[in-house]
Amino acid sequence: MNQKKTLKKPWPTKKAMEQIYEQKLWGGNSDDFYSGSGSHYPELVEPYIKVVQEFLTSFAEPITVVDLGCGDFNIGKRLFIHTKNFVAVDIVENLIAYNKEKFKAENLEFRCLDIAKDRLPKADCVILRQVLQHLSNAEVQSVVNKLADFKYIILTEHLPKRNFIPNKDIISGQGIRLKKQSGVDILKFPFNFNVKYEKELLSLPLETNKGVIITCLYEVF
Ligand SMILES: C[S@@+](CC[C@H](N)C(=O)[O-])C[C@H]1O[C@@H](n2cnc3c(N)ncnc32)[C@H](O)[C@@H]1O
Repeated sequence: MNQKKTLKKPWPTKKAMEQIYEQKLWGGNSDDFYSGSGSHYPELVEPYIKVVQEFLTSFAEPITVVDLGCGDFNIGKRLFIHTKNFVAVDIVENLIAYNKEKFKAENLEFRCLDIAKDRLPKADCVILRQVLQHLSNAEVQSVVNKLADFKYIILTEHLPKRNFIPNKDIISGQGIRLKKQSGVDILKFPFNFNVKYEKELLSLPLETNKGVIITCLYEVF
């Protein structure tokens, strides 16, 4: 009998994300690029847009924003108008090329970057919506290391509904920690990110056993 164990070797994140869009693993048959139901279902999108618009328009002067893992920009297209400057970033090159063609404005820029590896654009506020949940703890850590450069963080994560052990590790890709009864909490071990202020902006419970989508606002020291 062959006793050799087949070890799951992680694909590079860029390849994994490219494949998700090519093979429509997050759905969306007719769209060229589709970032998943979380980016499109009105019951998930509209309440999010409302709370983030309220935050962005609460400043006397519009602020600058960077959207890390902007996806198909179905969300960002509703937000950039409330900012002084909006940089939308994703790891998938042809998605960024597509977005550049589709969405044009003076205060809007698209950049193809790996947020775990590359230097991030500067801004007052960073938006991370349902991105860290797809990344391994090593990649989450390297993003978290750069978050202190921003004054505000608007972080959205898909989490289990009840008490759970946060930050169980996964291989970066299509899936999230929910299947391990876990989810990302950057304030908890092993990330232990320190914030001056935190506020839950939104909590959207899904059907039984499908968890809850939480959006938090953090103000950084
Ligand atoms: C589930 S989608 C969410 C899209 C968008 N934030 C939204 O809420 O509609 C996650 C996005 O993160 C991008 N992404 C994943 N890892 C990344 C990385 N290391 N650097 C940049 N983008 C990444 C993926 O390509 C994908 O477009």
